[in-house]
Amino acid sequence: MRLSVASDRDCRGGTSNDFEGTSPGGGELIQDRVAALEELRCEVLRCEACDLYQTRNQVVFGSGTCDAALMFVGEAPGKNEDLQGEPFVGQAGRLLDTLLDEASIDRTDVYIGNVLKCRPPGNRDPRPEEIEACKGYLRRQLELVDPMVVVTLGNFSTKLLLKTELGITRLRGRSYQWWRGKTLIPTYHPAAALRGGERIIEMMREDFKLMRSVLDGETSTSDSSEARQLGLFG
Ligand code: URA
Repeated sequence: MRLSVASDRDCRGGTSNDFEGTSPGGGELIQDRVAALEELRCEVLRCEACDLYQTRNQVVFGSGTCDAALMFVGEAPGKNEDLQGEPFVGQAGRLLDTLLDEASIDRTDVYIGNVLKCRPPGNRDPRPEEIEACKGYLRRQLELVDPMVVVTLGNFSTKLLLKTELGITRLRGRSYQWWRGKTLIPTYHPAAALRGGERIIEMMREDFKLMRSVLDGETSTSDSSEARQLGLFG
């Protein structure tokens, strides 16, 4: 049975601010991981670690099931996400849903998070100090969900998680052996694909096929000089 993290649960409990050095999700019982993820969500809802709290309508913590084998990491909430408090609910989210559908994956079976939990005004790019302030939350989500495959959507999440300055066009199309035995598959951001047209969407389709075959155990992670075992965020 799959467990999901309810988004309307009580948020009055307090938590620590420092998640560095915590144990991986894989070593904890699922109910403990669900509880820890909920505690983290409550902490993030109160976050004022960067200036974005002043302009947000809602924090977009993330959504999905804590025992997901597949986790997507986007960039930052847009207008619709900021209003609804859920990731990828706008046009880009609809493309993500379509691609998931084509790969025969139900959105409720995956976990979806972002590099930033609050919307940058006017959808501007995330700033380095905002990423720095927020990345510990993503790290803890990755530890607690402990997915087998992580798909990074676009340049910001790919550069952060692979600790590289290379762009998505160069990095996509293959899988990378990553932190704690996970596979990381970079692909375009759905919003970029919507702007770029069918050619970019077709490349995302290819990346989703790769993702599906890794999940199915049919493809092992690319073995090349660029596929390194990387520490989380570096
Ligand atoms: N774009 C993102 O990167 N994340 C969202 O949640 C929505 C749009």
